[in-house]
Amino acid sequence: MKHRFDPSKKHVLDSPARHQHTRPQELLAWAGITANQSLLDFGCGTGFFTVPAARLLGPGGKVLATDIHPEMLAAVRAAVTTQGLDNVEIFPTPEDDLLLSAPVDWVLLAFVLHEVSQPAQLLALAHKLTAQTGRILVVEWPQEAASHGPPLKVRLSPEQILSLAQPLGLVEVQRQQRPPHYYALVLKKS
Ligand SMILES: C[S@@+](CC[C@H](N)C(=O)[O-])C[C@H]1O[C@@H](n2cnc3c(N)ncnc32)[C@H](O)[C@@H]1O
Repeated sequence: MKHRFDPSKKHVLDSPARHQHTRPQELLAWAGITANQSLLDFGCGTGFFTVPAARLLGPGGKVLATDIHPEMLAAVRAAVTTQGLDNVEIFPTPEDDLLLSAPVDWVLLAFVLHEVSQPAQLLALAHKLTAQTGRILVVEWPQEAASHGPPLKVRLSPEQILSLAQPLGLVEVQRQQRPPHYYALVLKKS
């Protein structure tokens, strides 16, 4: 059984401390995400990245936000409404990956790859959705002991992610490391 984020602790995802050390809008801009693009935020949680992504993409862009958990979907919906954003579409993650088919410029996998039972399959889906020119932004926990975040044994190293990505024809184009909070990889088709 994979480690799953406990939705009753969802306030932690939106804590002021997390905003301060992760600076989601800056992280998205660092990856190269710009106005008028489309982005799928897979495993969006409470919208920690969804809201800044919607601001960055602007009225000409679009965020698709999806999560497996209804409580998270309610939270992201509330955040988007409070912020008055009308370029976000929120929907439950379909059980069948085939139902996710519209191409996007970006797929964001923020702190979700370590939670899914088939991370290679999720990367393959992201690869399919970003087609020829799109990119994938992976954000994950560093593989080191910390007072917060999931247990060390479930964390994925950048090398583990790259070993899943390479057979799909994905290569790393950018990396940022901010231990103990996160590391980020931008992947694209080779
Ligand atoms: C640690 S939270 C991160 C949320 C958000 N990306 C962030 O960085 O604040 C992981 C999220 O992934 C979602 N999740 C886990 N497995 C999933 C799956 N198979 N499909 C969609 N969402 C999933 C969880 O419900 C949870 O909201």
